[in-house]
Amino acid sequence: MALREILHYPEPLLKQKSVTVTDFNDDLKQLAADMVETMYDAPGVGLAAPQVGVLQRLIILDCSSKDEPDDLLVAVNPEIIGGEGDSLEEEGCLSVPGYWANVKRRATATLRYQDTEGNFCEREAGGLLAIGMQHEIDHLEGILFVDRLSPLKRSIFRKKYMKMLQEKEAENGST
Ligand code: NI
Repeated sequence: MALREILHYPEPLLKQKSVTVTDFNDDLKQLAADMVETMYDAPGVGLAAPQVGVLQRLIILDCSSKDEPDDLLVAVNPEIIGGEGDSLEEEGCLSVPGYWANVKRRATATLRYQDTEGNFCEREAGGLLAIGMQHEIDHLEGILFVDRLSPLKRSIFRKKYMKMLQEKEAENGST
C-alpha cells in the first residue's frame, strides 16, 4: 500500500467527470487500498478517486466516530437510488483544505454500488454517511462542495481561498 497525493482546488482535474469502472482487477484493488490508507492518514471521512488523480468511479467513506469501530465503505460505480428529506450541514473536503461551509443535501440516501469484486450491493444511510455519499459522488461528476454554494458565497470563497494560497506560497518562498 502507498499514500497517494491529494489534489487541491483549483486543480483542473477535479472538475472532470470520472468513467465507469469495468475491470475489477488488481489495479482497482490497489487503488482502493491506497485511497483507504490516504484517507485515514489525512485524516478524512471520505475520498473519491479523482482526488488522487484517477478519473474512475470509486469512492470510499468511513463516517464512524472515534469511539465506534471502523465502518469502511468502498463503493465502485456508486449511484444514489433513493433518499428523502433535506439537510443543511457544514462540509469540508480534503481537496479544499482550510474551508468549511453549509451545503444543502438530501437527509437520507440509498446507495447502489459494486464492491471491488464487481458484486452489486446496496446501503441505506442517514446523517453524516448520507451526506458523505452525496459529497463523494459529486466528485465523480467534477463537482466540489463549494460549487453548490450560492454565487455570492462562492465568490467570497474564491477570494478567501486564493488569498490563503498566495500567503502559503509566500511562506514557502521565504523558507
Ligand atoms: Ni471532497
